[in-house]
Amino acid sequence: MTTHIGASPGDIAETVLMPGDPSRAQWAAETFLEDVSCINKVRGMLGFTGTWKGHRVSIQGSGMGMPSLSIYANELIRDFGAKTLIRIGSCGAMQDTVAIRDVILAMTASTISTPSTHIFHPLNFAPCANFELLRAAAVASEKKNVTTHIGGIYSSDVFYSEHPRLDEEMTRHGVLAVEMEAAELYAVAARYGCRALAVLTVSDHLKTGEALPSEDRERTFGDMVEIALEAAFP
Ligand code: HPA
Repeated sequence: MTTHIGASPGDIAETVLMPGDPSRAQWAAETFLEDVSCINKVRGMLGFTGTWKGHRVSIQGSGMGMPSLSIYANELIRDFGAKTLIRIGSCGAMQDTVAIRDVILAMTASTISTPSTHIFHPLNFAPCANFELLRAAAVASEKKNVTTHIGGIYSSDVFYSEHPRLDEEMTRHGVLAVEMEAAELYAVAARYGCRALAVLTVSDHLKTGEALPSEDRERTFGDMVEIALEAAFP
C-alpha cells in the first residue's frame, strides 16, 4: 500500500479509469465491470478493480484539481504498475460550437501551472494525449453517435475564474473547454512512458451559462465510461 492507496501489489490493473468523483468510480465499476472488488478506501477516494469483456480494469477516483490527481497518478504508475490512464470527467464549454452533453477528447491541455511546471521552467511543456487512445476513442464515440469534439482544452487551477481575460483568450485561440486535471495527467504519464487520455462531457457552458441537469449526468457519464473502455481495448 502507498500513502494514499490502500491496495496490495497486483490489486490494480494496468488500465485505470480516473473520474474526479469517487462515488462515480463506484457507480461506473458497479455498472460496467464484472467481478468487482473495492481496492481503496483511503480518504474516501474509492477505487475498484474488475473486468470488462474479459479485460482487467481499475477505476480510481482522482479528486478535484491537479494536485490531487497528481498524487493518484504518481502512485498508480510508480507503485502499482498502471500503464494506461484515462480521465473521465466533466468540463465547461468555451466555444459556441460546443454544446451541453457533447463529448470532448482532449488532444492537448494548456495550463498556467501544474504540479509538474517547475520541472520545465522556463519551457512551456505541451501536455498531449496518447494518439493511439485518442484515435480509438474517436472511433468509439463515432460508433455511439455522440457529438464529439477533438482538440485543445484548458486545465485550470480554479473552478471560479477571476481571470475573464484569460478565458477570452482561450476561446479566441480555439480552446474547446476548461476542466481541472488533464494537463497534469498527461505530464505524469509522459514522464513514465505511459498512455493517457481525457474523455470529458460538457456539463456547463461558460458562454451561455447553461448547465447539465443533474438527472442527465448519469447517462452522459455512462457514455464516457464506455468510450474510455473501448479506447483502452479497441
Ligand atoms: N471550470 C473548471 N472546471 C470545470 C468546469 C468549469 O467551468 N466545469 C466542469 N469542470
